[in-house]
Amino acid sequence: MRIIKTREEIREAVRAMKAQGFRIGLVPTMGFLHEGHLSLVRRSRGRTDKTVVSIFVNPTQFGPGEDFNDYPRDLEKDCERLRKEGVDIVFAPDAEEIYPPDHATYVEVTGLQDKLCGGARPGHFRGVCTIVLKLFHLVDPDRAFFGQKDAQQAVILQKMTRELDCDIEIEVCPIIREVGGLAMSSRNIYLNPEQRSAALCLRRSLLAAENLIDQGEMVAGKIQAEMERIIREENSARIDYIAVVDYFSLEPLSSLDTPSALIALAVHIGRVRLIDNTIVYPKEIIK
Ligand code: PAJ
Repeated sequence: MRIIKTREEIREAVRAMKAQGFRIGLVPTMGFLHEGHLSLVRRSRGRTDKTVVSIFVNPTQFGPGEDFNDYPRDLEKDCERLRKEGVDIVFAPDAEEIYPPDHATYVEVTGLQDKLCGGARPGHFRGVCTIVLKLFHLVDPDRAFFGQKDAQQAVILQKMTRELDCDIEIEVCPIIREVGGLAMSSRNIYLNPEQRSAALCLRRSLLAAENLIDQGEMVAGKIQAEMERIIREENSARIDYIAVVDYFSLEPLSSLDTPSALIALAVHIGRVRLIDNTIVYPKEIIK
């Protein structure tokens, strides 16, 4: 496994692999890897010939008061895990390699970027789109792999890829959870044991929503109200949003009588902001 730090070297390495006819898979990450990340790596290994994993804590997607400086990092351990997974290249550039001091070009998916998490995190998706498009240019993958855990991110990147004519197949992979149901996240290490148990209310509320839907409930407001009730049972939980939206437009739905609904929520537990979601119809969006 090669660990590459510069743009020039990654371009050259990928060019050499492509010259041999290999298909390239890219898994973009911010590191501090867990099983959720590794599920994307395994998917890429299954679907392509060579897998590149990028590890880059992207400064442009963090807001002024956010956790860029204390975002957890452990490059050595990450590389050890990726080596065991059979990854071919880790691309782990420094911030200056990606953003010279006079960097001024950004990518925006207008409209979608302001919904759901965009409300609490202005500028976040602009940073995500900018880094992912740069990675697409640097790594030139045939396929790129993202998690449903960050459903809005996946929807936005799918739209960006289509609209900016990137010839890259985007695959969105299922949410990997800890025992008990908490969606895995690098930020879960900020949770103390009580907060960890309180955090299970996100999954509980989504399961309750799925149950209601299985019983035939179609009214979005009723589903949201039940989810809200469940979250409010936890004293330490503060709701950012609970949304029932169309999967592609992220527009609020009043009824689930639609081909593709996303139920998503963001909840603060202590100082940690957690997100989770479920896709109601059709399950085939997530392969
Ligand atoms: P990061 O949070 O490190 O996540 C990297 C990828 O792993 C994302 O596609 C995310 O959706 C996926 N992922 C995270 N937790 C997961 C889980 N529990 N199950 C399945 N997949 C999971 O998302 C980012 O980094 C950044 O925004 C990035 C796309 C790398 C751009 O900087």
